This record gives sequence, C-alpha cells and structure tokens, in this order.
Amino acid sequence: MKGAAMSVVALIGAQWGDEGKGHLVDLLASKARLVVRYGGGNNAGHTVDNHLGTFKLHLIPSGIFDPATVNVIGSGVVISPEALLLEIAELKSRGVNTSKLFISERAHVVMPYHVILDKLQEQDRGDGKIGTTGRGIGPAYADKMSRTGIRMADLLHEETLLNRLRGVLEEKNRLLTKLYGVKAISLHETYLRYLNFGHQLAEHITDTHPIIQRALAKDIPILLEGAQGGLLDVDHGTYPYVTSSPPGAAGACQGAGIGPTRIDSVIGVYKAYTTRVGEGPFPTEIDGPDADALRQMGTPWAEVGTTTGRLRRVGWFDGVMARYAAQINGVDTVAITKLDVLDGIETIKICTGYKLHDTMLEFPPATTAVLEQVEPVYEEVSGWMTSTVDIRRFQDLPEAAQAYVARICQLVGARLGIISVGPKRDQIIMASEVF
Ligand code: IMP
Repeated sequence: MKGAAMSVVALIGAQWGDEGKGHLVDLLASKARLVVRYGGGNNAGHTVDNHLGTFKLHLIPSGIFDPATVNVIGSGVVISPEALLLEIAELKSRGVNTSKLFISERAHVVMPYHVILDKLQEQDRGDGKIGTTGRGIGPAYADKMSRTGIRMADLLHEETLLNRLRGVLEEKNRLLTKLYGVKAISLHETYLRYLNFGHQLAEHITDTHPIIQRALAKDIPILLEGAQGGLLDVDHGTYPYVTSSPPGAAGACQGAGIGPTRIDSVIGVYKAYTTRVGEGPFPTEIDGPDADALRQMGTPWAEVGTTTGRLRRVGWFDGVMARYAAQINGVDTVAITKLDVLDGIETIKICTGYKLHDTMLEFPPATTAVLEQVEPVYEEVSGWMTSTVDIRRFQDLPEAAQAYVARICQLVGARLGIISVGPKRDQIIMASEVF
C-alpha cells in the first residue's frame, strides 16, 4: 500500500469464483467513482441485492446502481453484445440509469461461432469435460490470442466488420462443417446482426483509456471489479479446469490498462467455506448433511450458479489454496463472505495443510493428477450456533466466529477488511477502511 489515501483497489475472487464479489462491489461502489470490470465475460454472474431490488449482472459493473459512478467494461473483457443489450434493457426497465456505462473499443466480441464451438469442444472432451458455462468464453479468448478476434470498435465500422468477418468465417465454417459436421454460419446474416448490435451499443462504445487515465491523474477512487476467481486463472489455476483469462490482480492491470505500480490494495474475496461449479479438483469437497447445510437451498444464499443455474459443489475452507491465491495476487486485505451460512454448523473444519503420501505440502501441486491425491489436513473448531445476520461490528460477533475469521486471515496471510453476514447491502461488517 502506498500513500495515505487508497485510490485504486482491486477486488478479486480468491477461490473458484462465486465468492460474493458483486455484493461487495455494490457496497464499495458508493465510495469509488469509477468501477472497471476488467476480464471474463458473461460466464460471470453477480447477484446484487440493494434498495432497488435483486439483480443478476453478468457483464455490467456492479457500480451501475450508483448514479454518480462511472462504469467501464475494460479491454480485457470478452463481450456478448446480445447478452449485454439484454442486461442494459433489464436495468433500464427497472429504473437504473445506464448512461455512465462505457465499453472499451478494444474489448473482444463473443461471436456466435464461439458459443457453438465451446459446446462442441465440451462434447468432444467426454469424461474430460471442463464444465464450461457454454458462453463461448474459451474460443473467444483463443481467437483474441490468435489475432483473429473481432473487437467492439469493429462493430462500428461497416467495412472493417465485413472484411474481418469474411476472413474469420471462412476458417470457422470449414471447422464447423468439415470437422464437426454442423451447419455453416451465414456471413451476410451475421454481418447485419452484429452491425445492428454495434448501432445499439454505439453510445457506450469508446476509447476507455482516457477515462481511466484521467481518473488516475486526479486520484479519483477506482475499483477494479474481478470476475471468476484466482483458482480459475489460466496460468495459475487448476489447469485445464480453469477459465481462459487471468481473473486476478495481474489480470486487473492488463484488462483495465493500469500499471501494477498504480494499484494500492488488493482485496481477496473468500467465502467462509469453499464452492466450485464445473469440473476439476476440489480437495476439501464434502457430501452429506454438512454439504446440504452449506448449500442453503431455497434461500437467497443458495449455492446455485448465477449464470448456469448449476448446483455448486461445496466444501470446507481450504487454507492451502487460499494462501496460494493470496500469494499470486498480492492480496493484502481479506473479505470473508457468507459467514452466516456457518451459523448452524456445530463443528467446522478448516483445511490447514495437504498431505501427499507421507509428506506435508506447503503449496498446492501444479497438476490435477497429483492434486487429486492430496489428503486435506483439518483443524476442527466449534461453531457458534447463533445467528450473525444482524451483527454489524466485528466485536459483536460470537467469540467462536471471531476466532474463525482470525484463523482464516492468519492462513491467508493478510489483514481482515470486510465480513458479510447476509445478501443485503447493509449486512456487512467493515473491519478496516477500504478507500
Ligand atoms: P468458462 O469460463 O465458461 O470457459 O468455464 C471454465 C470453468 O470456469 C468452468 O469450471 C466454469 O464453471 C468456471 N467458471 C467460469 N466463470 C465462472 C464464474 O463466474 N463463477 C464460477 N465459476 C466460473
């Protein structure tokens, strides 16, 4: 942390996504004047519950509910224009002002062939499937890296769009028809459809670099809003069971276009336990009554994916993975969400280490095959067996809950910042200043 006032804060998921980031961003957006979503696409889903109602956001930064806040969808995001337009329409119809939403010209577009290929590739993987959200995210990022992507700015230029699309579709259609035996995509129809999306989004599409740089120059509080989580990172996550972008603090710099020296604080968001959607290793995963209690079915906190409606896998807090994610992302502040979900659990387990055969591991192994063999070492702590949903100060939490939170911070190796005890905007305990 540098300087007295913290003006650039990255809020990142530090597990496998779904940590409850949207809920915190919604609150912190009232302090930030600029919120930048920097990566991922509509594979993400944030549930925000505030004075205006309950909203499910996939692409639009959660700062949108604050009329004074500027919201940017940064260059590192891959955008489904169709999904974005639906989101804008839904917000507008419920009285939310979207005029301060700016979309980077440099952000890539998720095209219809990305969605088709995502699903076909998953089918081909058979038992080795990743469990993607089926939103075309992997293929869209692959095209960006292969330099065959289409960017938001291209949707505003008829000639560029037609030329790029013509070149790309030639290759994609060969793949679709010859390899997968499915229908080709029409150049004409796709061109007209995406040109129309461009027209509809034109007022929002711009060069977001000046907006971000001016805010930095004026020390305006900026919140970098993460999607997914550190353990889904394409480089450092549980590969290949990851997403196709860097969802952490480095991704925040890259996707927003902000140098790493400008970030003042990184908040790592951790659920008080662990969840995962999709396939892949999950050492502390559990079944049975404790799992049912953690899933909270039928409540607003229910562990069902916001984007796909899939039931989330659940397990105990994993201190090894938590520390690993903190190290990669330079987490200096811990936010713990859904503490109230543990209110009725008599004995809570915390994973403090991994055992592989007879060896204790300090760090998670890099490969799935080995990670699947580790045995979590648990510490058992007594639950508090009383409701925390109305508590607003750390010192008012039951002693056992305070101790649990302190243990998590110790394992992560960072100070406590925020605790959430329910889905509402005010069900938050601020343990230290964020901006
Ligand atoms: P993709 O990002 O759709 O390619 O999916 C790759 C993996 O990341 C799958 O396991 C997904 O379930 C997971 N994933 C992607 N986005 C999210 C998210 O926002 N929350 C939780 N898991 C996600």
